[in-house]
Order: sequence, then C-alpha cells, then structure tokens
Amino acid sequence: MRFHVVTLFPEAFEGATSYSILGRAVHRGLVSVTVTDIRKFTFDRHGTADDYQFGGGPGMVMKPEPIFRAVEDVLESLPPEEPDLIPILLMSPQGEQLNQRLIDELAVAPDIVIVCGHYAGVDERIRTGLATHEISIGDYVLTGGELAAMVVIDAVSRFIPDVVGSAENVHEDSITSGLLQHPLYTRPVEFRGMTTPEVLRSGNHAEIARWRGRQQSLERTLRLRPDLLRFAELSNSDRIYLEQ
Ligand code: ADE
Repeated sequence: MRFHVVTLFPEAFEGATSYSILGRAVHRGLVSVTVTDIRKFTFDRHGTADDYQFGGGPGMVMKPEPIFRAVEDVLESLPPEEPDLIPILLMSPQGEQLNQRLIDELAVAPDIVIVCGHYAGVDERIRTGLATHEISIGDYVLTGGELAAMVVIDAVSRFIPDVVGSAENVHEDSITSGLLQHPLYTRPVEFRGMTTPEVLRSGNHAEIARWRGRQQSLERTLRLRPDLLRFAELSNSDRIYLEQ
C-alpha cells in the first residue's frame, strides 16, 4: 500500500512512520508514505497557497491550482493502472466520518492520495472536482488535516496483510468485531489490591470465551456504546441475551 500525502506541512510527517508496527511495515516494504509539498506547485516566489475568500469572511482559503497540480503530479508518477480508481481523500471536518467500513474499503487500494486541508478550509472545487472522498476523523476541528491523515494511514495499514502479526487479532479487535473489547489482564495476578478475574486463570477455554464474549464484550457494549449493537454481528443467543 502506497500512501501519497499532499500537504503544506511535510515536516508533520517526519518520523511519523519510523516506529512500532507502522515503522516495521515501512521497513519491510509493506507500506510506503511519500509526502508532496503543495508549496512546490505554487506560482509565485513566496509560495502562496492560500487567498482571501470571495464574498468576504474570516480566515484564508487554500487555492485550487496548487493542490490540483500537486495531486496530478502524484498521479502521473504512478504506474498507469487505472488512475481513475485511486482514492483521493480530502481530510476535512465536514467529511464522512471515518469508520471500519470505510477503512475496509480503502485497505484494498494499492495507492491512496491524501490531501490535507488547512486554514479556514479549501476551495470548494477541490471537493467537487478532485477528491473522491471527503473524510473527517470526528466532530471536532483540528488545526489542519495532517493529524487526520496520519490516523487514516495508521488505521488502514493495520488491515494490510502481514502488517499486524496475526490477521485474527486485527479482526477480533475492539470495534472491528462490532463490539467493545473484553478487559485484558497480564501478570501480576494481584496489583495494589486489584486482582485478575479467576476465570481467566482457570484454563477452561469454553468458560473463558463465554466470560469474554457474553459477560464482558456484550455487556460493555450495551452499557457504553449501545449504538454499535445495531451493526454488530450477533449470534441468536446474543440477541436473546440482550432482549432479557
Ligand atoms: N481537519 C480539521 N479537522 C478535521 C477533522 N476532524 N477530520 C479531518 N480533517 C480535519
């Protein structure tokens, strides 16, 4: 998977993929992140990438030409396989909220272009004439799309084969499975008066699975994120349990 980030602040990505799981994925050639500086595609010697809004109003707007040119430069550098199918994401608080369905959709693309917005926003023509997806990472406004782009890179990379140790782990994770995760414990058995549940140390795998799935995941989800239950894959017995 090749991510191509288009940004006014390339320095935001320095070191972003140099550690842990993503660092290893880059090292092993499973993931690459290239960063294109929008300012290189501006026309004047000051590298002007923003301008005042037509109609007046506070805040500057990112101009369309440098962003179109930067994205086109990225697309031209790619192998000529169906460039029309390459997702071009615009990171913006107005976009569709990032979720597992969108992550699954993106994880099968060989290349993804990510445009980071800044200032008051981007010229509307970037939204209507360039981006294939407009994506928000939540209902709050960041100072720019760079952190949001990193969230997409991280979340999508986990679903690329071999990036995370075991495919099973990735799919059983919290939220991915549709439910919140059961509590996790490791040694010591007792820590500052808090003990690990007896059942996890019982060696009885059926009991452990029941405790994790039914008592913990399902109940936790019901208590903390009941909205997830509408889309979770539930067994008949889970449904009966929830209806009680
Ligand atoms: N840029 C600013 N805020 C954002 C958000 N919440 N999601 C994506 N991009 C953004």
